[in-house]
Amino acid sequence: MVQDIFEKIKINRGPIGQHAKESHGYFTFPKLEGEIGPHMIFRGKKRLNWSLNNYLGLANHPEVRKADADAAAEFGFAAPMGARMMSGNSNFHEQLEAELSTFVEKQDTILCNFGYQAVVSAIDCLVDRRDVIVYDAESHACILDGVRLHMGKRYVFKHNDVEDCEKQLERATKLAEEQGGAILVITEGVFGMRGDQGRLKEIVALKKKFNFRLFVDDAHGIGTLGAKGGGTGQEQDCQDGIDIYFGTFAKSFGLIGGFISSDEQVVEYLRYNMRSQIFAKALPLPLVAGLLKRLELMRNHPELKDNLWKITNALQKGLIEAGFDIGVTDTCVTPVYMNGSIPESTNLIYDLRENYNIFCSMVVYPVVPKGMIILRLIPTAVHTLEDVQYTIESFSKIVGKLKAGEYMSDKIASV
Ligand SMILES: Cc1ncc(COP(=O)(O)O)c(C=O)c1O
Repeated sequence: MVQDIFEKIKINRGPIGQHAKESHGYFTFPKLEGEIGPHMIFRGKKRLNWSLNNYLGLANHPEVRKADADAAAEFGFAAPMGARMMSGNSNFHEQLEAELSTFVEKQDTILCNFGYQAVVSAIDCLVDRRDVIVYDAESHACILDGVRLHMGKRYVFKHNDVEDCEKQLERATKLAEEQGGAILVITEGVFGMRGDQGRLKEIVALKKKFNFRLFVDDAHGIGTLGAKGGGTGQEQDCQDGIDIYFGTFAKSFGLIGGFISSDEQVVEYLRYNMRSQIFAKALPLPLVAGLLKRLELMRNHPELKDNLWKITNALQKGLIEAGFDIGVTDTCVTPVYMNGSIPESTNLIYDLRENYNIFCSMVVYPVVPKGMIILRLIPTAVHTLEDVQYTIESFSKIVGKLKAGEYMSDKIASV
């Protein structure tokens, strides 16, 4: 019998969607209101907010707000109309691409209207059925989706395990030789959940033994790592060994969209072949003008990154001293690991939000193993040391309650 799709999804709501009824508007799809920053309004009350990837505080920087408003007034949001290739190109787009190339030390850059789409589409565009992909097991969904589009073979290596990467490269090399294909290794600069840096330098070193190109998704690294904010490759002094570099505008830049930087001929190939860009409208001019201002601030105000790291170091050091487990992070992403059931985690988050006025993201099963709770804190340049102090004290209180069983329940917190 042929099933009806609507009937099917009535029953199978998906791993998170099955909790939509109890969680919508509070645990999922919460509304953070007011100006973007460390203190925002949630359900009518001011809360200390650790859940935005506004690393450098640029999202609400006065010069950024002014540049965004001026550009919107001057150009409107519609311009340019059409895809870049057909009718949507502008001097501003090309200027931003040139400035980004310098910033990440690559020959050329292509702007993309969404980061996620950029990664999916670039992977799809770069490989054909004879090529082999080798990728990290804990890659972001956009990498996994790009890999899913690949019609050839793929080998996955254990998360950040260079030995296993080497093993998979051996298999990939054998197959690529047989098929006359090439090899693309894909990993991340910063893994957004655990906060560990990809072992880029060691993967680059494998080029001495194997013939492959390296694609790095540096969504969390751009702006936060590297002496000049140029990302994880710059931080690890191996930017040259990254062949295709992806950065998003949705985190440090505090906007939307993304970019891919590489050799001139590779970027030209992407410009003429990447389906998500040739068949989609270009980034609106106000966004591009706003991005030029953000990049200027990133380049000329290293104190933004210094502040981010001052807050990050204080937060991570304070949490460790207070006995918390923050795992293996060596970046600004700060996960706090706890143990408990899903209902317990919802009661804990409810207490944290309503009684301590702290808003942060929570990650539970199925994203992490059953019984694990991660409270994920994203420090920014605009948090203060008082925010850090207050958060550590509050976390110590809620973890005491968690251990004493005060959040125990068989139901998700009712809100
Ligand atoms: C590692 C990584 N790659 C790609 C993306 C997608 O970027 P965007 O939000 O710009 O679409 C994200 C965003 O969450 C990310 O964390």
